[in-house]
Amino acid sequence: MSLYTIGIDLGTSAVKLLLVEEGGKICSSVTKEYPLYFPKPGWSEQAPEDWWKAVTAGLRELLEGVDASQVKGIGCGGQMHGLVVLDENDAVIRPAILWNDGRTAEETAWLNTEIGREKLSSLTANIAFAGFTAPKILWMKKHEPQKFARIRKIMLPKDYINYCLTGVHACDYSDASGMLLLDVKNKCWSDEMLEICGVTKEQMPRLFESYEVIGTVLPGVAAILGISAETKVVAGAGDNAAAAVGTGVVGEGGCNISLGTSGTIFISSESFGVDPNNALHAFAHADGNFHLMGCMLSAASCNKWFCDEILKTTDYAGEQKDISDEKLGNNRVFFLPYLMGERSPINDTDARACFIGMSMDTVRADFVQAVLEGVAFAVRDSFEVAKSLGIPIDSSRLCGGGARSPLWRRIIANVLNIRLDIPQTEEGPGYGGAMLAMVGCGWYDSVQACTDALVSVTDTVEPDPALAARYEVQYQKFRRIYPTVKDLFQKLQ
Ligand code: XUL
Repeated sequence: MSLYTIGIDLGTSAVKLLLVEEGGKICSSVTKEYPLYFPKPGWSEQAPEDWWKAVTAGLRELLEGVDASQVKGIGCGGQMHGLVVLDENDAVIRPAILWNDGRTAEETAWLNTEIGREKLSSLTANIAFAGFTAPKILWMKKHEPQKFARIRKIMLPKDYINYCLTGVHACDYSDASGMLLLDVKNKCWSDEMLEICGVTKEQMPRLFESYEVIGTVLPGVAAILGISAETKVVAGAGDNAAAAVGTGVVGEGGCNISLGTSGTIFISSESFGVDPNNALHAFAHADGNFHLMGCMLSAASCNKWFCDEILKTTDYAGEQKDISDEKLGNNRVFFLPYLMGERSPINDTDARACFIGMSMDTVRADFVQAVLEGVAFAVRDSFEVAKSLGIPIDSSRLCGGGARSPLWRRIIANVLNIRLDIPQTEEGPGYGGAMLAMVGCGWYDSVQACTDALVSVTDTVEPDPALAARYEVQYQKFRRIYPTVKDLFQKLQ
């Protein structure tokens, strides 16, 4: 009889749950969506209670017809940075403020100038970005002082799910790295940063490695879900670290690109290192090591937005059908993908998306192509930062919903001029979560041993020299657009 673990990918548009067999086979998956609220332009919130409702409904569906007593572990990869605040009864005080929320421009600027980038970097290995958790705490302190005074626990999105499952307030190092409250190098809360934000260590969750067991499922919850109360729950990871595990990017020098709601380029490392300009985040990894990462706030979400909201279609593949080979690298339409402002590397909450270059012969497919290319060019911006640090990257894994499009894979491979290795599943965070649970259950000695055993590459996309050369010219044009329109964005707000 097979044993299973469950991987949970707590994303921004939905939660995806995977039932994974001991040998690594994904037996079934369930996706449950929940609402995302934009109460003001640039703000982004979700109700933690909606996450939990979706997780419980999803788990019940996932386990239909399965001998649930054979589920031995659960691991969650979650959207990073979101501020979840609980009161003395562990009730949610306000909706979670998410990773792509841009309301904290003032607090972010205050941290970076008054506390100073150098000091922040020495305390936490990072500077402040609007999406990080610390500026949100400062925002709450200033704008919602009564609610702020009620905070007993601060946590991140997946930690809320882990809390509901186990009753334990826990966080792992990879996710905690994105709070700007963790001393990443020494893997402990920074007393000084906590003080700067007006919070105490007692309000913070206990820290774990991602593969460590934080507890077992509460008997009441186990009964509702129909699983054993001995099911182990591991600390899990931020979704990007979990995705890197799921695609086998652990240890030294691996690279993973994720095209989800956000777009990330993730470089794993066995040693702690900081980008001297702090354009890339320096975070802990779920394998016990470290990583550098660039994060774009809108990636596959640009295509989703353009198709769903503007073209009014969900036939994404159909929209890409008319993009012929000759059109690649020759588009006169360009798209800046900054629908929610942008983090890496330009760090501009005021930036917005735009199309430029249309003429009377521009057709619908040119826009679709421009969206795919704009995202690829923005990934290249962070890729260039990594290269400028002397990090050699000649290939990368690719995961996330966007990785399902063969055309988008080809564009990315040629814009970056590197080989893309496509793993057997694009379900990075969920699969990584299930793998972390396997390590927690003792089925593997280390995360590396687990990825060695379970992750394989099933497809490879090589760049084509002629196309890569055309895209080089296009990228140089793209690079000129943002600096030219940058000043306008603030005035247009
Ligand atoms: C990473 C980041 C995003 C979210 C998306 O820094 O903000 O990738 O984790 O889920």
